[in-house]
Amino acid sequence: MIDVSGKRVTLRRAVATAIVHVKPETADVIRRGGVPKGDVREMTRATALLGIKQTPDLLPFCHRIPIDHAAVELEVRDTLVEVRVEVAAIARTGVEVEAMTGASIAALNVYDMVKPIDQTAHIGEVRVLEKHGGKTDFHEAPASPIKAAVIVVSDSVSAGKAQDSAGATVRTKLEAHGIEVSRFEVVPDEAPEIAQLVTEICDKESENLVFTVGGTGLGERDTTPEALRGVIEREIPGLGETMRAYGRDRTPLADLSRSIAGQRGKTLIVAMPGSRRAAAESVGALLPWIVHGLKVMDRGYRHGK
Ligand code: MTE
Repeated sequence: MIDVSGKRVTLRRAVATAIVHVKPETADVIRRGGVPKGDVREMTRATALLGIKQTPDLLPFCHRIPIDHAAVELEVRDTLVEVRVEVAAIARTGVEVEAMTGASIAALNVYDMVKPIDQTAHIGEVRVLEKHGGKTDFHEAPASPIKAAVIVVSDSVSAGKAQDSAGATVRTKLEAHGIEVSRFEVVPDEAPEIAQLVTEICDKESENLVFTVGGTGLGERDTTPEALRGVIEREIPGLGETMRAYGRDRTPLADLSRSIAGQRGKTLIVAMPGSRRAAAESVGALLPWIVHGLKVMDRGYRHGK
């Protein structure tokens, strides 16, 4: 199976349909409830619900998703029966295969129930009509190319006693999302120096994002949040909460990071923890969703609906 453990849990929804072609007389019998095996509508609805829940047992690459909602509708038209299945789950992966499994098995049930009275019955198209809630839904094209500054905050890296890996990881992850890292700096854990550099970058307005990496912990020299509180004009508590919540699912130590985020002018500032793993996980928690925030901050973009 594909490893989805790094994905954010979001509300997923999918709608699938399946068609069974039947004779007009068969459609009539279904409508009247005269099929010898029983009520095609009710049996097919029940079959679809069972199929949806059996998906991971049938398809080897499907994850076991906790299904929160499933609805099945049957429409009997002149020469066909259409099954429409809707599935929703708050999960790390989409539910379109669940919806298609429900629709497919429902179509098989219609076929099975009418085959004694209709030798021409056959299953037609099965397809996904809608799919929502995945990363691609949030993958907004920015209004203009996004530039970021990455600032490694570390006494040891700045003194040449340790090699940076967290900053490099943040850079790689940002670039993988199409964000250009146009500035990369290393500073010691000195609050005035951190504040001065971040202020200068924000006030130049050449980067849209500033990521500081490190100095958010409980050590005596960890002063990045204090340094940034004097620079940030408006805090964005949700981003700090998100980094901690996402990290907490991976290590209880995530709560030891005092990560914060906020705005100064048109620049978004994020202070993330400094280990390579912590930094990678924190960027993973914020991308690509953060792009929407940048669009709102930039050039008067407003929410749609
Ligand atoms: N967050 C995530 N997502 N993953 C982690 O492994 N490590 C924690 C925490 N946040 C961690 C994490 C640890 S061990 C510390 S000490 C704090 O971040 C602070 O790190 P910093 O002082 O380098 O900023």
